[in-house]
Amino acid sequence: MRLENKVAIITGAAAGVEGQLMGFGGAAARMFAREGAKVVLTDIKEEMGETAAAQIRENGGDALFMPQDVTSEARWLEVIRETVARYGKLDVLVNNAGTGARYTVEETTVAAWDAQMDVHAKGVFLGTKHAIPEMRNAGGGSIINVSSIYGLVGSPTSTAYHAAKGAIRLFTKSAAVQYAGEKIRVNSVHPGYCWTPLTDPGYSHEEGRRDWSLERIPLGRLGNADDIAHGIVYLASDESSFVTGAELVIDGGTTAQ
Ligand SMILES: NC(=O)c1ccc[n+]([C@@H]2O[C@H](COP(=O)([O-])OP(=O)(O)OC[C@H]3O[C@@H](n4cnc5c(N)ncnc54)[C@H](O)[C@@H]3O)[C@@H](O)[C@H]2O)c1
Repeated sequence: MRLENKVAIITGAAAGVEGQLMGFGGAAARMFAREGAKVVLTDIKEEMGETAAAQIRENGGDALFMPQDVTSEARWLEVIRETVARYGKLDVLVNNAGTGARYTVEETTVAAWDAQMDVHAKGVFLGTKHAIPEMRNAGGGSIINVSSIYGLVGSPTSTAYHAAKGAIRLFTKSAAVQYAGEKIRVNSVHPGYCWTPLTDPGYSHEEGRRDWSLERIPLGRLGNADDIAHGIVYLASDESSFVTGAELVIDGGTTAQ
Protein backbone atom coordinates (compact mmCIF):
# COMPACT_ATOMS: atom_id res chain seq x y z
CA MET A 1 0.00 0.00 0.00
CA ARG A 2 2.55 2.53 -1.15
CA LEU A 3 -0.11 5.17 -1.91
CA GLU A 4 -2.49 4.56 0.98
CA ASN A 5 -4.86 7.50 1.66
CA LYS A 6 -3.55 9.51 -1.29
CA VAL A 7 -5.98 11.18 -3.70
CA ALA A 8 -4.77 11.35 -7.29
CA ILE A 9 -5.88 12.76 -10.64
CA ILE A 10 -4.43 11.09 -13.75
CA THR A 11 -5.11 12.68 -17.15
CA GLY A 12 -5.19 10.71 -20.40
CA ALA A 13 -6.05 7.61 -18.37
CA ALA A 14 -8.79 6.00 -20.50
CA ALA A 15 -6.61 3.19 -21.89
CA GLY A 16 -6.74 1.03 -18.78
CA VAL A 17 -9.21 -1.62 -19.89
CA GLU A 18 -8.43 -5.28 -19.17
CA GLY A 19 -7.65 -7.32 -22.26
CA GLN A 20 -6.85 -4.22 -24.35
CA LEU A 21 -3.57 -2.50 -25.07
CA MET A 22 -2.93 -0.10 -22.18
CA GLY A 23 -1.48 3.39 -22.05
CA PHE A 24 0.68 4.85 -19.28
CA GLY A 25 -2.22 6.71 -17.62
CA GLY A 26 -4.56 3.73 -17.65
CA ALA A 27 -1.89 1.37 -16.32
CA ALA A 28 -0.89 3.91 -13.66
CA ALA A 29 -4.52 4.32 -12.53
CA ARG A 30 -4.82 0.56 -11.99
CA MET A 31 -1.51 0.44 -10.12
CA PHE A 32 -2.40 3.50 -8.00
CA ALA A 33 -5.67 1.85 -6.92
CA ARG A 34 -3.86 -1.39 -6.03
CA GLU A 35 -1.45 0.66 -3.89
CA GLY A 36 -4.34 2.19 -1.96
CA ALA A 37 -4.90 5.53 -3.71
CA LYS A 38 -8.27 7.03 -4.60
CA VAL A 39 -7.99 7.77 -8.29
CA VAL A 40 -9.76 10.17 -10.63
CA LEU A 41 -9.17 9.12 -14.24
CA THR A 42 -9.77 11.80 -16.87
CA ASP A 43 -9.67 11.73 -20.67
CA ILE A 44 -11.52 12.92 -23.77
CA LYS A 45 -12.36 9.24 -24.49
CA GLU A 46 -15.42 8.95 -22.25
CA GLU A 47 -16.68 5.42 -22.88
CA MET A 48 -13.25 3.83 -22.47
CA GLY A 49 -12.51 5.94 -19.39
CA GLU A 50 -15.80 4.95 -17.72
CA THR A 51 -15.03 1.28 -18.41
CA ALA A 52 -11.49 1.56 -17.02
CA ALA A 53 -12.73 3.22 -13.80
CA ALA A 54 -15.57 0.69 -13.41
CA GLN A 55 -13.10 -2.20 -13.68
CA ILE A 56 -10.91 -0.69 -10.96
CA ARG A 57 -13.99 -0.51 -8.70
CA GLU A 58 -14.92 -4.12 -9.56
CA ASN A 59 -11.42 -5.13 -8.45
CA GLY A 60 -11.96 -3.44 -5.07
CA GLY A 61 -10.31 -0.10 -5.83
CA ASP A 62 -11.70 3.40 -5.40
CA ALA A 63 -11.84 5.21 -8.74
CA LEU A 64 -14.06 7.40 -10.86
CA PHE A 65 -13.89 8.85 -14.34
CA MET A 66 -14.40 12.50 -15.32
CA PRO A 67 -14.44 13.63 -18.96
CA GLN A 68 -11.77 16.30 -19.45
CA ASP A 69 -10.03 18.12 -22.26
CA VAL A 70 -6.78 19.26 -20.60
CA THR A 71 -6.57 22.34 -22.84
CA SER A 72 -9.64 23.88 -21.13
CA GLU A 73 -8.89 25.95 -18.02
CA ALA A 74 -12.56 26.01 -17.03
CA ARG A 75 -12.69 22.21 -17.07
CA TRP A 76 -9.50 21.94 -14.97
CA LEU A 77 -11.15 24.05 -12.26
CA GLU A 78 -14.23 21.80 -12.32
CA VAL A 79 -12.25 18.53 -12.24
CA ILE A 80 -10.15 19.67 -9.27
CA ARG A 81 -13.19 21.06 -7.44
CA GLU A 82 -15.17 17.84 -7.99
CA THR A 83 -12.20 15.70 -6.89
CA VAL A 84 -11.83 17.60 -3.61
CA ALA A 85 -15.61 17.56 -3.06
CA ARG A 86 -15.65 13.78 -3.50
CA TYR A 87 -12.42 12.75 -1.75
CA GLY A 88 -11.65 15.72 0.54
CA LYS A 89 -8.19 16.67 -0.80
CA LEU A 90 -5.69 16.33 -3.65
CA ASP A 91 -2.21 14.80 -3.15
CA VAL A 92 -1.05 13.68 -6.60
CA LEU A 93 -1.51 14.95 -10.15
CA VAL A 94 -0.22 12.99 -13.14
CA ASN A 95 -0.21 15.17 -16.27
CA ASN A 96 -0.13 12.39 -18.87
CA ALA A 97 -2.57 13.30 -21.68
CA GLY A 98 -0.98 13.73 -25.08
CA THR A 99 -1.05 13.17 -28.82
CA GLY A 100 1.61 12.77 -31.51
CA ALA A 101 2.37 14.78 -34.67
CA ARG A 102 5.15 13.30 -36.78
CA TYR A 103 6.06 16.19 -39.09
CA THR A 104 9.35 17.83 -40.09
CA VAL A 105 9.80 21.58 -39.52
CA GLU A 106 8.56 22.41 -43.04
CA GLU A 107 5.61 20.03 -42.85
CA THR A 108 4.44 21.44 -39.50
CA THR A 109 1.46 23.76 -39.89
CA VAL A 110 0.69 26.50 -37.40
CA ALA A 111 -2.42 24.52 -36.44
CA ALA A 112 -0.34 21.38 -35.71
CA TRP A 113 2.19 23.44 -33.73
CA ASP A 114 -0.54 25.10 -31.65
CA ALA A 115 -2.31 21.79 -31.01
CA GLN A 116 0.90 20.19 -29.68
CA MET A 117 1.69 23.17 -27.47
CA ASP A 118 -1.91 23.22 -26.20
CA VAL A 119 -2.23 19.58 -25.19
CA HIS A 120 1.29 19.18 -23.78
CA ALA A 121 2.72 22.50 -22.58
CA LYS A 122 -0.52 24.35 -21.80
CA GLY A 123 -2.25 21.25 -20.41
CA VAL A 124 0.59 20.60 -17.97
CA PHE A 125 0.76 24.29 -16.99
CA LEU A 126 -2.99 24.53 -16.29
CA GLY A 127 -3.09 21.31 -14.28
CA THR A 128 -0.10 22.33 -12.19
CA LYS A 129 -1.38 25.87 -11.66
CA HIS A 130 -4.77 24.74 -10.35
CA ALA A 131 -3.56 21.72 -8.38
CA ILE A 132 -1.08 23.75 -6.31
CA PRO A 133 -3.63 25.54 -4.07
CA GLU A 134 -5.22 22.20 -3.14
CA MET A 135 -1.82 20.58 -2.51
CA ARG A 136 -0.94 23.55 -0.32
CA ASN A 137 -4.14 22.88 1.67
CA ALA A 138 -3.12 19.20 1.95
CA GLY A 139 0.33 20.15 3.32
CA GLY A 140 2.21 19.04 0.22
CA GLY A 141 1.88 16.94 -2.91
CA SER A 142 3.46 15.36 -5.96
CA ILE A 143 3.01 16.48 -9.56
CA ILE A 144 4.29 14.11 -12.25
CA ASN A 145 4.57 15.46 -15.77
CA VAL A 146 4.88 12.92 -18.57
CA SER A 147 7.37 14.29 -21.07
CA SER A 148 9.32 11.90 -23.35
CA ILE A 149 12.82 11.08 -24.51
CA TYR A 150 11.65 13.43 -27.29
CA GLY A 151 11.81 16.15 -24.62
CA LEU A 152 15.53 15.39 -24.24
CA VAL A 153 16.85 14.63 -27.74
CA GLY A 154 15.82 15.18 -31.36
CA SER A 155 14.57 12.78 -34.05
CA PRO A 156 13.88 12.96 -37.81
CA THR A 157 10.28 14.24 -37.34
CA SER A 158 7.82 15.21 -34.55
CA THR A 159 9.03 18.84 -34.49
CA ALA A 160 6.24 20.40 -32.45
CA TYR A 161 6.05 17.33 -30.18
CA HIS A 162 9.75 17.73 -29.35
CA ALA A 163 9.28 21.44 -28.63
CA ALA A 164 6.24 20.82 -26.44
CA LYS A 165 7.80 17.91 -24.52
CA GLY A 166 10.94 20.00 -24.01
CA ALA A 167 8.76 22.77 -22.60
CA ILE A 168 7.31 20.30 -20.09
CA ARG A 169 10.84 19.38 -18.95
CA LEU A 170 11.84 22.93 -18.04
CA PHE A 171 8.39 23.97 -16.80
CA THR A 172 8.72 21.07 -14.35
CA LYS A 173 12.02 22.33 -12.95
CA SER A 174 10.69 25.88 -12.68
CA ALA A 175 7.64 24.74 -10.69
CA ALA A 176 9.79 22.37 -8.58
CA VAL A 177 12.02 25.23 -7.41
CA GLN A 178 9.08 27.56 -6.76
CA TYR A 179 7.05 25.15 -4.62
CA ALA A 180 9.66 22.96 -2.89
CA GLY A 181 9.31 25.13 0.24
CA GLU A 182 5.69 24.02 0.47
CA LYS A 183 6.55 20.32 0.07
CA ILE A 184 5.00 20.20 -3.39
CA ARG A 185 7.31 18.07 -5.54
CA VAL A 186 7.29 18.33 -9.34
CA ASN A 187 9.12 15.81 -11.53
CA SER A 188 9.11 14.76 -15.17
CA VAL A 189 9.05 11.24 -16.61
CA HIS A 190 10.73 10.57 -19.95
CA PRO A 191 9.48 7.35 -21.56
CA GLY A 192 11.31 5.89 -24.53
CA TYR A 193 9.78 3.87 -27.37
CA CYS A 194 6.74 2.05 -25.94
CA TRP A 195 3.85 0.11 -27.45
CA THR A 196 0.60 1.85 -26.37
CA PRO A 197 -2.63 2.96 -28.09
CA LEU A 198 -0.77 6.14 -29.13
CA THR A 199 1.97 4.28 -31.01
CA ASP A 200 0.00 1.19 -32.02
CA PRO A 201 -0.94 2.49 -35.51
CA GLY A 202 2.77 2.83 -36.31
CA TYR A 203 3.93 -0.41 -34.68
CA SER A 204 1.04 -2.51 -36.04
CA HIS A 205 0.72 -1.14 -39.56
CA GLU A 206 3.74 0.90 -40.61
CA GLU A 207 6.40 -1.12 -42.44
CA GLY A 208 9.72 -1.04 -40.57
CA ARG A 209 8.55 1.19 -37.72
CA ARG A 210 9.05 -1.43 -35.02
CA ASP A 211 12.54 -2.34 -36.26
CA TRP A 212 13.50 1.35 -36.47
CA SER A 213 12.68 1.74 -32.76
CA LEU A 214 14.22 -1.59 -31.69
CA GLU A 215 17.54 -0.64 -33.30
CA ARG A 216 17.65 2.33 -30.92
CA ILE A 217 16.91 0.41 -27.69
CA PRO A 218 19.94 -1.25 -26.04
CA LEU A 219 17.72 -3.46 -23.84
CA GLY A 220 16.31 -4.93 -27.03
CA ARG A 221 12.56 -4.56 -26.57
CA LEU A 222 9.87 -1.93 -26.76
CA GLY A 223 8.61 -0.60 -23.43
CA ASN A 224 5.06 -1.20 -22.20
CA ALA A 225 2.62 0.79 -20.10
CA ASP A 226 3.56 -0.93 -16.83
CA ASP A 227 7.27 -0.07 -17.33
CA ILE A 228 6.31 3.61 -17.13
CA ALA A 229 3.53 3.23 -14.53
CA HIS A 230 6.03 1.75 -12.04
CA GLY A 231 8.09 4.96 -12.29
CA ILE A 232 5.00 7.12 -11.87
CA VAL A 233 4.02 5.19 -8.70
CA TYR A 234 7.49 5.79 -7.26
CA LEU A 235 7.28 9.55 -7.89
CA ALA A 236 3.76 9.67 -6.43
CA SER A 237 4.77 7.82 -3.27
CA ASP A 238 6.63 9.09 -0.21
CA GLU A 239 9.57 6.88 -1.27
CA SER A 240 10.56 9.83 -3.52
CA SER A 241 10.13 12.50 -0.82
CA PHE A 242 13.69 13.87 -1.51
CA VAL A 243 13.14 13.95 -5.29
CA THR A 244 11.99 17.13 -7.02
CA GLY A 245 12.82 18.80 -10.34
CA ALA A 246 14.22 15.46 -11.51
CA GLU A 247 13.95 13.66 -14.86
CA LEU A 248 13.10 9.98 -14.61
CA VAL A 249 14.20 8.43 -17.92
CA ILE A 250 12.63 5.02 -18.62
CA ASP A 251 13.83 4.13 -22.09
CA GLY A 252 15.73 0.83 -22.17
CA GLY A 253 18.97 2.75 -22.60
CA THR A 254 18.02 4.71 -25.73
CA THR A 255 19.32 8.09 -24.55
CA ALA A 256 22.39 6.62 -22.83
CA GLN A 257 24.01 6.27 -26.27
N1 LIG B 1 4.02 5.53 -26.22
C1 LIG B 1 5.21 6.09 -26.25
O1 LIG B 1 6.15 5.54 -26.86
C2 LIG B 1 5.47 7.39 -25.54
C3 LIG B 1 6.80 7.77 -25.35
C4 LIG B 1 7.08 8.95 -24.67
C5 LIG B 1 6.05 9.71 -24.18
N2 LIG B 1 4.74 9.34 -24.38
C6 LIG B 1 3.71 10.20 -23.81
O2 LIG B 1 3.01 9.47 -22.82
C7 LIG B 1 1.70 10.02 -22.63
C8 LIG B 1 0.70 8.89 -22.65
O3 LIG B 1 0.67 8.29 -23.93
P1 LIG B 1 0.47 6.74 -24.18
O4 LIG B 1 1.54 6.34 -25.12
O5 LIG B 1 0.32 6.04 -22.89
O6 LIG B 1 -0.87 6.68 -25.05
P2 LIG B 1 -2.43 6.80 -24.67
O7 LIG B 1 -3.13 6.92 -25.97
O8 LIG B 1 -2.87 5.73 -23.77
O9 LIG B 1 -2.52 8.14 -23.82
C9 LIG B 1 -2.84 9.38 -24.27
C10 LIG B 1 -4.26 9.72 -23.81
O10 LIG B 1 -4.41 11.12 -23.84
C11 LIG B 1 -5.73 11.39 -24.25
N3 LIG B 1 -5.82 12.76 -24.75
C12 LIG B 1 -5.40 13.24 -25.94
N4 LIG B 1 -5.68 14.54 -26.04
C13 LIG B 1 -6.30 14.89 -24.87
C14 LIG B 1 -6.83 16.10 -24.37
N5 LIG B 1 -6.80 17.25 -25.09
N6 LIG B 1 -7.38 16.11 -23.13
C15 LIG B 1 -7.43 14.97 -22.40
N7 LIG B 1 -6.96 13.79 -22.83
C16 LIG B 1 -6.40 13.76 -24.06
C17 LIG B 1 -6.03 10.35 -25.30
O11 LIG B 1 -7.43 10.19 -25.49
C18 LIG B 1 -5.35 9.12 -24.73
O12 LIG B 1 -6.23 8.31 -23.98
C19 LIG B 1 1.53 11.06 -23.74
O13 LIG B 1 1.76 12.34 -23.20
C20 LIG B 1 2.62 10.69 -24.73
O14 LIG B 1 3.03 11.80 -25.49
C21 LIG B 1 4.44 8.18 -25.04
